Amino acid sequence: MAIWHINGGHKLKGSCFVQGSKNAALPVITASVISGGVTELLNVPQLSDITNTLRILRQLGCVAEQQGNDVYIDSTCLSSNTVPAEMMEKMRSSVLFMGALLARCGEVHLTNPGGCKIGARPVDLHISAMKALGAEVEENGCEIVCKADKLKGAHIELPFPSVGATENAMIAACMADGETVISGAAKEPEIVDLQEYLRKKGAYIYGAGTGKISINGFEKSKHCGHRIIPDRIVASSLLCAAAAAGGDIELRGVDLKEFSCLQHFLNEAGCDIIVNQRSIRLVSDGRLRSVSDVVTAPYPGFPTDAQPLLMAALLKADGKTEFTENIFDSRYCHARELSRFGADITVNGRNATVWGVKSLNGATVTATDLRGGAAMIIAGLSANGKTEVVDTGHIFRGYENFDYKLRSLGADVYMEI
Ligand code: UD1
Repeated sequence: MAIWHINGGHKLKGSCFVQGSKNAALPVITASVISGGVTELLNVPQLSDITNTLRILRQLGCVAEQQGNDVYIDSTCLSSNTVPAEMMEKMRSSVLFMGALLARCGEVHLTNPGGCKIGARPVDLHISAMKALGAEVEENGCEIVCKADKLKGAHIELPFPSVGATENAMIAACMADGETVISGAAKEPEIVDLQEYLRKKGAYIYGAGTGKISINGFEKSKHCGHRIIPDRIVASSLLCAAAAAGGDIELRGVDLKEFSCLQHFLNEAGCDIIVNQRSIRLVSDGRLRSVSDVVTAPYPGFPTDAQPLLMAALLKADGKTEFTENIFDSRYCHARELSRFGADITVNGRNATVWGVKSLNGATVTATDLRGGAAMIIAGLSANGKTEVVDTGHIFRGYENFDYKLRSLGADVYMEI
C-alpha cells in the first residue's frame, strides 16, 4: 500500500515528456505470442500491469524482460496455453490472452479477468468473437476454455465498439484461414497502434481507426520492433492537474489530435491551450468556469477514462457542470471520495452534477480505482493544505513515476510506500 502526501496550492510550471501508453502496450505485448520470434518494444511504461503481463509471458514459457522503457520478448519457446487465475485477476487486459493463445495453440484455458471495479465488465463480446472465428467455448463458473483445430475467417459484428473485444478479435483473426471483417469495431488510437504492431509481425490487416477492420492472412516475420504511442490519459491527467491547480505546463511528445475533446472543455473552463507540432501547453490561473455537458462516448467521443480527471479539475469551477457516463455503469466511486475535500457532487445513476465550490480543503481519501486515484491527486493539488491519498496499488497500474513527474512540475507531493 502507498500513501500519497500532497501539500496543495502550488501552481504547476515546467515541461515534461508523457510516458508510453499502458492501454496500447498491453495488447501489443500480449499479441507477441501469436507467432514465435522476437519482439522489441520501445517507450513501454514501467507499471505493475506491464510487469504482470510480462510475468504471464514467462509463465507461458517465453523470454520476456523489461529494462527501463525497453521490452524484449522471444515467444519462440511458448510451452503452455493456460493462464493461472491469480495472474488473470490482476488486470482486465489479461483477457486478450484468449485470442492470442487460441491463435497460437488452438486451445486456451483461462479465467475471468480482473481490473478496475467500475461497473459490470462481462466478456461476452470477446467470447462471441472467438465463436465467430470457429472456436468452441466452454464456460464453467469463472473458467473459460476455447478450442479450435483451425480458426476460420468470419464476419464479426460487434453490437458495441468494445476496445478489448476488438483487440481480441484482431489478434485471433491473424491466424485464421481466409478473410475476417470486424464491423462495429472500436476506433481508439490504441487499436491503430495494435494494427501497426500486427503488420510488423506479419499480418495483412487494415481499417483500424474506422469502424471496419479487415484481416486477411499472416506471413510470419522473425523479428519485429515497435514504438508504443504516448499515453493520452496520462497527458489528460497532467493537463487537468495544471488546469485545477493553476500554472503553465508543456507536455512534449504527445499526439495533439487525441486531445480535441478535453481541449474543448478546458478552453471553455478558461484555460489557454497552445498547440505546437509535438507539444501542448496549458496556461491556467486556477480560477475555472463550469462547462457544458460532459458526456462520455466511444472514441472519438469524450473518453470515460478522462471523466474522473475532468470532474476533479472542475470542483471549484464557477457554476454547475453535468456529467453523463455512458460507457461503464458504476464509474462515480471517486465522487464520494472527492466530497471529502468539500466538493459539492450529486450522483444519480449515470449522471453526476458538480456545483463549483469556492475552495477545497485537504483530506484523507482513498484511490477507488486507477483513474479515480488520479482524480484524488488532482483534487489534492488544488486543495488548501495537506491531503493523503491511500492507494492499494491502483495508481501504479497506470502512472509511471507520477510523484517524480509532478514534483518536476513544482508540486509538493511525495509517496510513502
Ligand atoms: C478499455 C480500456 C479502459 C477504458 C475502456 C473504454 C484497456 C486495458 N482498458 O477497457 O481503460 O476505460 O476501454 O474506453 O485498454 N462490454 C460488454 N461485453 C464485453 C466487453 C465489454 O458488455 O464482452 C461492455 C463493458 O461492460 C463496458 C463497455 O462494453 O460497459 C466498454 O468496455 P470495453 O470497451 O470493452 O473496455 P475495456 O476493453 O475493458
